[in-house]
Amino acid sequence: MSETAVEKQSFATYKKNNTIEDGDNVVMYLSRENMSIIRVKDGEYFNCKFGSYKHSDMIGLEYGTKLGSNTGRGFLYLLYPTPELWTLVLPHRTQILYIADISFVMNYLNLKPGMSMIESGTGSGSFSHSIARTLAPHGHLYTFEYHQERVNAAKKEFEEHGLSDMVTLRCRDVCKDGFDLEDEVDAIFLDLPAPWEAVASAKKAFKQNKVGKICTFSPCIEQISRTVTALNEHGFVDIQMYECLIRFNEIRVIPMWTIDEAMEKQRAVEKKRKRATPRVVRDDNSSTQDDENSSSSGHINKSVKMEPSVDDSNQSSAAATPSSTTGSEMEDSVSTTTSTPVIGSEATTPAETTASASAAVAEPRERIEPKNVVVTRLPAEQRGHTSYLMFATFTPATQGPSLTEIKAAAAAATATMEK
Ligand SMILES: C[S@@+](CC[C@H](N)C(=O)[O-])C[C@H]1O[C@@H](n2cnc3c(N)ncnc32)[C@H](O)[C@@H]1O
Repeated sequence: MSETAVEKQSFATYKKNNTIEDGDNVVMYLSRENMSIIRVKDGEYFNCKFGSYKHSDMIGLEYGTKLGSNTGRGFLYLLYPTPELWTLVLPHRTQILYIADISFVMNYLNLKPGMSMIESGTGSGSFSHSIARTLAPHGHLYTFEYHQERVNAAKKEFEEHGLSDMVTLRCRDVCKDGFDLEDEVDAIFLDLPAPWEAVASAKKAFKQNKVGKICTFSPCIEQISRTVTALNEHGFVDIQMYECLIRFNEIRVIPMWTIDEAMEKQRAVEKKRKRATPRVVRDDNSSTQDDENSSSSGHINKSVKMEPSVDDSNQSSAAATPSSTTGSEMEDSVSTTTSTPVIGSEATTPAETTASASAAVAEPRERIEPKNVVVTRLPAEQRGHTSYLMFATFTPATQGPSLTEIKAAAAAATATMEK
């Protein structure tokens, strides 16, 4: 290829020159939760809340480049579109398969480059992209979808993503009309509401003299039950069912204090807070009409008294500020100061925070450096959903009549002999 020739992009493989060209797909990565995909077109812009990015500025850059916005306020990374990223940014036309199921299914179907495979339905094409990459460059994916608009959208995407040479997409009701493929594929994946209705046709589609694998994906155990019956009926063996879950954990580094360090730090905070703002404590017994007027106008009235500005470094914050937080919370946090909240801001009221902040302005804080520890935690939202994955094996012995057909033939033979 000459140096100026445009290298066609494919989601199944990286570009050799690793360079963004006009017409390429690029994943705009702002954060793990904030990504989208664009097709680069000279003259267009990508806009987000952090600024605007000219497509023409991206042309000629390497994938992986960090690009600043035109306002200088934000930046993003320009990533090569892989099937994994496509699953996270694709337009949802249906429910889709996520990485946990995708990787598990591909592994258990023994998918390898050069194989041929059936998938139905195509849906949003999430799984199709991963399958295509695994079978590339010489394998083939036959994908079936009966919803015409989904077929049109997926067809366009396969073309734009450089996959159309290795993907055949057909608009077809596979439960009613079958796959119309015989002795052709090594593996079959069914993500359909009634997969059992496609089992007979699936059996014919397998390469008849080889071992092949089938997998069905179903959200309900009733669907699994009917599929098992159909697989048994048609002579599939090694039938197994799995439930596959993934739980992403965020990794964070947090300060971990010893009890002594925590106590010392807390005392330092208290000391500075008291110096900065004398606390006012209402004397409820001396309440008057004036009090009410003045308190409603937001002023501190006369019947308040100043709390003695104690500078007792042994005084715990719980004792000094009984009203600043609930007793038990504060006592807990003081007595178990290994937990971080009491050291930072969570155990302090907004007023205390403001006070200690102004103290910090007045006098630089004496820093006590904690040891950092790595912790993990579950984020609020997890992507993915639970379903049952049913696997079975086709062997050359699977071919031939179904159990029902065998029984019917046996019954007919018996009846003939009895005549
Ligand atoms: C859950 S979606 C598949 C999602 C896909 N696995 C993905 O990762 O994007 C199921 C699809 O099967 C299609 N479908 C349902 N019954 C069908 C049938 N009998 N023949 C062909 N497609 C069918 C639906 O239109 C739908 O688009």
